[in-house]
Amino acid sequence: MSTKDVYILAIESSCDDTSAAVLKNAKVLSNVVANQKIHEAYGGVVPELASRAHQQNIVPVVHQALANANIDKKQLTAIAFTRGPGLMGSLLVGTSFAKSLALGLNIPLIDVNHMQAHILAHFIEDDAQEIPAFPFLAMTISGGHTQIVVVRNHFDMEVIGETIDDAVGEAYDKSGKILGLTYPAGPQIDKLATQGNPKAFPFPKPKVAGLNFSFSGLKTAILYFIQKQTKENPDFVKENLVDICASIQYTIVNIILDKLKKAVKQTGIKTIAIGGGVSANSAIRKALKDGEHKFGWKTHIPKFEYTTDNAGMIGIVGYLKYLQEDFTDEAVTANSRIKI
Ligand code: KG4
Ligand code: ZN
Repeated sequence: MSTKDVYILAIESSCDDTSAAVLKNAKVLSNVVANQKIHEAYGGVVPELASRAHQQNIVPVVHQALANANIDKKQLTAIAFTRGPGLMGSLLVGTSFAKSLALGLNIPLIDVNHMQAHILAHFIEDDAQEIPAFPFLAMTISGGHTQIVVVRNHFDMEVIGETIDDAVGEAYDKSGKILGLTYPAGPQIDKLATQGNPKAFPFPKPKVAGLNFSFSGLKTAILYFIQKQTKENPDFVKENLVDICASIQYTIVNIILDKLKKAVKQTGIKTIAIGGGVSANSAIRKALKDGEHKFGWKTHIPKFEYTTDNAGMIGIVGYLKYLQEDFTDEAVTANSRIKI
């Protein structure tokens, strides 16, 4: 292995964001994300529209990432792309693009697991961020996943708990839909919650054994509660929106915290890193930070730009795999259900 600098172009297209990033070794030089606004009107991601939007976005997004990094494509060392998990039509766009570019430039191609990337985003070199020490517990909380993972090494990961139904981001988005908020509702509920009383409306916490999660019961409880209240007062949601949001947020954060405490007890590991779109949540970030003095945890919270889907996190996995010469070939196909 030479000591030459490594330039990775990374591509992420697993769901509804088209993203490209350029990394110089473990450092992100550029990270461009094009959000697909089209889904707002439908209250959730429409797969067919997502793949069409990826097709429109991918070339300009990659150009922009190269331009922002001030890198010519001929300088690239390797191409990394999200192989899965995600929406098949969306993954296919990034996969095909990455394959053809690597082939055209005659450079290595590296396939990346999106969920590993949410965890390994913590290894992006950044002066303001500390890298977690092995072993640590990673909690991935996104629109598609909710997992607690023991991370023994970069690529030695074991899932010890996960949701048996909805993901935590889905719980936010579906609750928001009931309240009449647009998709994605997570960030809106988070913002509104800061102005409300978290104990205004007690919602039930699910009883799920071990380290697994369940969020579908909470969504149903919220739906019945809102239906009952609006029958009595049609303006109930409007008049109580901030308190409802604060109560939802309070319940979700407690569910997450309870399971994390259990995971720490079970594994004896007190270093915790969170990742995924929902790790942008202010109450979860605060609860984790507070865990440092309350429970003696060491917590790692990603920078905002590396929480929701982005190609920077795909690039760091690409770099780590590049160091191990862990390449793939043109026969690789997207895999929408790939596991950690
Ligand atoms: O990781 P991500 O960008 O995409 C998936 O892989 O799913 O996560 C998107 C999810 C959405 O459900 C969105 O509502 C949620 O992350 N989210 C939040 C916040 N910001 C994004 N949920 C709660 N609070 C936030 N601040
Ligand atoms: Zn994600």
